[in-house]
Amino acid sequence: MAQQTTTDVIDVLTTDHREALDLLDRIARSTNPTEKRDLADTVIAEVVRHAIAEEMYVYPAMRDHLPKGDEEVEHDVEEHKELEETMKQLEAVDASEARFDDLVRKMTEQLRHHAHDEESEQFPKLRTHLPHEELVEMREKVETAKKLAPTRPHPNAPHTELFHKLVGPGVGLVDRLRDRLTHRND
Ligand SMILES: [Fe+2]
Ligand SMILES: [Fe+2]
Repeated sequence: MAQQTTTDVIDVLTTDHREALDLLDRIARSTNPTEKRDLADTVIAEVVRHAIAEEMYVYPAMRDHLPKGDEEVEHDVEEHKELEETMKQLEAVDASEARFDDLVRKMTEQLRHHAHDEESEQFPKLRTHLPHEELVEMREKVETAKKLAPTRPHPNAPHTELFHKLVGPGVGLVDRLRDRLTHRND
């Protein structure tokens, strides 16, 4: 195959994984609770946006184009749920407590596993089964979705394309409003 020069959705999602893991590494090495809290809030917001963009645009493509696509999606949904449960706990724990560090380690393991699965299994399959132009178009949709997506984990919300398209942007607005009122992410 010819070398592709236009950034596609796989490049963006892979970069997201790397950046989130880098943030988690910075948290693990920090000894300043305020810095740890700020970095944790940032990584949580980034991973929530990433997961929702995948659920909105990458899952439908996996279902449509990959052999056993439905099974691949179900597996990823489970991993997203586990990650969101960890993030919900991490959001609520004080950064000076030992439990905070435990949760950061747990989230790191879960995210590493998630990234490895996608980067070694689903992403290469998407590149095999979809034309490059479609993956470029999907990148644009994913980038837009990430701007509208919630910044807080909602582990009990359905992990479906339809839910996000109907309810997701509204949930995102509520979160951003709450962020502004409490001066988080300022
Ligand atoms: Fe995923
Ligand atoms: Fe991912």
